[in-house]
Amino acid sequence: MIAAMSADRVIGREDGLPWDVPADYAHFVASVRGGAVVMGRRSYAIFGRDLEDVQAIVVTHSEHAPAGSQRAGDVEAALAAAAATGRPVWVAGGASVYAQALPYADELHLSIVPGTFEGDAWFPAWDERSWALAEETPRDGYVFRRYVRIAEDPS
Ligand SMILES: NC(=O)c1ccc[n+]([C@@H]2O[C@H](COP(=O)([O-])OP(=O)(O)OC[C@H]3O[C@@H](n4cnc5c(N)ncnc54)[C@H](OP(=O)(O)O)[C@@H]3O)[C@@H](O)[C@H]2O)c1
Repeated sequence: MIAAMSADRVIGREDGLPWDVPADYAHFVASVRGGAVVMGRRSYAIFGRDLEDVQAIVVTHSEHAPAGSQRAGDVEAALAAAAATGRPVWVAGGASVYAQALPYADELHLSIVPGTFEGDAWFPAWDERSWALAEETPRDGYVFRRYVRIAEDPS
């Protein structure tokens, strides 16, 4: 999964991000390039046009795939379709899809944006016992953290 968030896990406000950190957005676009990217219908409407050389798989209750994407009726179907492409699989939000996909994730690529932001969408809390911090790198306007799964989530 790949996400940008504040320290208190805010990821969004209305139809966008609560901050303007161009280096992080460029990092996001570069990270998922060439991959199969699972997104909720709302997030694809916001960010989909910026993605380059991706197979976009959009989760929606609608019968119709948004332009430029393949539709999936739920997150499990989206993950299966993404795996079937043979490309690296990324889950890129938003809040509802992150929450549903977290149990299946094996890496979290998180950009931590300093500051306090008002928002209306949050990344799910993750159980620290299930994850190890593999990398932490200060970058231009954010801190990149990569977590790797070390245990299944406790049920
Ligand atoms: N900071 C970041 O890294 C980041 C990344 C992505 C998004 N965001 C932010 O996150 C916010 C959007 O998140 P969100 O939770 O509101 O929307 P979302 O997860 O992007 O999309 C929600 C939509 O996905 C579909 N969906 C979700 N689960 C489904 C399921 N199990 N079965 C069928 N369809 C399903 C539904 O579409 P239908 O209504 O069409 O059925 C639902 O309305 C925005 O503020 C955005 O800016 C932030």
